[in-house]
Amino acid sequence: MSKIKMALTLVPVGLMALVVGCSGESQVSFSKDVQPILNDNCLKCHVEGGAGFVKNGLNMTSYENLMKGTNFGPVIEPGSSISSTLVRLISGNADPSLKMPHGSGNKPLSEGEINTIKAWIDQGAKNN
Ligand code: HEC
Repeated sequence: MSKIKMALTLVPVGLMALVVGCSGESQVSFSKDVQPILNDNCLKCHVEGGAGFVKNGLNMTSYENLMKGTNFGPVIEPGSSISSTLVRLISGNADPSLKMPHGSGNKPLSEGEINTIKAWIDQGAKNN
């Protein structure tokens, strides 16, 4: 029974992925759509001297810095939002202690903002 239920809920998700992947969905722009979200929600810590940067070197002041990732490697995998660490953290699919933005005073990103970042990554995470 529960297996059937699961299959039924997975179908729309799969279809949506297909539609998003194949339709001529408008291109998400890094400079116009993504960077402003990062500026508003992430930069206070992910900038030289900020808490996030000091901890692991992740700097989000530019496309180049963002794509470099942390001292341990990239947090964005172009073409695959699902495999991107950054997406896991902003959508809360990680340990709550790692959820981004960090800290209780910082509101999470809206669904729209998360979807914008996901779409940008799935479209290849271009510097556009
Ligand atoms: C209040 C400060 C703060 C804010 C705001 C913040 N971060 Fe962070 N971030 C941190 C800290 C501190 C770490 C290191 C966490 C650790 O290693 O325990 C971190 C780590 C990360 C990592 C790396 C995790 C890893 O794999 O090591 C990513 C990706 C990340 N943040 C993304 C974001 C994004 C995207 C935003 C904005 C939506 C954001 N952060 C906002 C403080 C912040």
